[in-house]
Amino acid sequence: MGIQIPRGTQDILPGEVEKWQYIEKTARDICQKYQYKEIRTPIFEQTELFQRSVGDSTDIVQKEMYTFTDRGGRSLTLRPEGTAAVVRSYAENKMYGQTIQPVKLYYIGPMFRYERPQAGRYRQFVQFGIEAIGSDDPAIDAEVISLAMEFYRNLGLRELRLVINSLGDRSSRSALREALVAHFQPNIGEFCEDCQQRLKTNPLRILDCKKDRGHKLMQTAPSILDYLNEASSEYFEKVKKLLKGMGIDFVVDPNLVRGLDYYNHTAFEIMSEAEGFGAITTLCGGGRYDGLVEEVGGPDKPGIGFALSVERLLSALDAEGVALPQEESIDYFIIALGEEAEEYAVPLLQQLRRAGFSAEKDYMGRKLKAQFKAAERLHAKYAVIIGEDELKEGKALLKHLETGEQTSVELENMVEQLKSGI
Ligand code: HAM
Repeated sequence: MGIQIPRGTQDILPGEVEKWQYIEKTARDICQKYQYKEIRTPIFEQTELFQRSVGDSTDIVQKEMYTFTDRGGRSLTLRPEGTAAVVRSYAENKMYGQTIQPVKLYYIGPMFRYERPQAGRYRQFVQFGIEAIGSDDPAIDAEVISLAMEFYRNLGLRELRLVINSLGDRSSRSALREALVAHFQPNIGEFCEDCQQRLKTNPLRILDCKKDRGHKLMQTAPSILDYLNEASSEYFEKVKKLLKGMGIDFVVDPNLVRGLDYYNHTAFEIMSEAEGFGAITTLCGGGRYDGLVEEVGGPDKPGIGFALSVERLLSALDAEGVALPQEESIDYFIIALGEEAEEYAVPLLQQLRRAGFSAEKDYMGRKLKAQFKAAERLHAKYAVIIGEDELKEGKALLKHLETGEQTSVELENMVEQLKSGI
């Protein structure tokens, strides 16, 4: 057997890749409208960056990172997500000193997590994400959420559910932490080993445990919303009011904790409600991460963002039966018959392309009929036929392949004539 593709990765072949390009273009267009600028950071970073930001107690850091030691003995990790690197770059490049604030950035690129591959879960997947750093105005939270919703809408998705929560500020969370310890401690022996560990390192993570989801103590666990202090609660109310004002429907789920440690205040996820969508319904996740910039060595600046994967987006489009528009036609297919015509066809092809047309010819030595077939397969609008008779007269035959209409064009200055719309 030949060498196969690594588990949890996929080739995106022509025919499929056009959908990706369309999605990427839609992402770039919406970012332009909302004034988010593209940032490109390395595929790998120092391992410590993710330990400090995503958090030592998370599944991502504990179980899912592709970490390796390079030849210089440094521990590096293929990025499992984009926020940490963007924040690192923001601090390192002193973007907090820029005149335009907040700093609004977006990225599209591959991320890597060693997860158990299944529908909607890959080991290499592409995230589109945005980050707005430098403002703690609830209006920016609302903008980030609305950009995600608008992006999905522009692509034609309708069956979406926006779930939001507040994780509060540091003091709200430490009050919750104490309450969680008091709640789980007496029966922690009934929980998985990870949760037993989590009780000591980060009890909030217990609420996100997939194994113990059904335990009765999960249902009765203290809710963060009961532990929000006044400022946090006020902040959350403002975000909700702004979302309502924009006509964005949402539900509040106090159990939404997210799988990364850097969040506080607003946290949100967007799910697909389409029938037939797989078991993993989260399309997009994000939230506020005040304190993260400082954690990676920058000044104390607030931030908020989201990320979504193109893979899950494509599944949601499939589940809702939305077909993305695909451009798959070409302008001209040159059919040259005979050696002399061929010598004419090659430079003509180049001139057509230079003039901005998409054009193709036969390279397989096909007969006339088969060349027409090839032109049809490429959805060519016109065939340019150059045969011996046409050459003698200094002309080519231009055939509109859909209507069958034919015109004769002078070979001399043909491209000029075509440009002027013959
Ligand atoms: P996350 O929830 O870990 O958040 O991932 C965001 C999205 O990436 C998920 O909702 C899902 O669509 C997609 N995703 C995650 N893992 C996989 C996978 N194995 N296969 C396919 N898709 C996947 C973050 O990554 C944060 N950095 C989001 C953020 C940005 N928060 C603030 N700014």
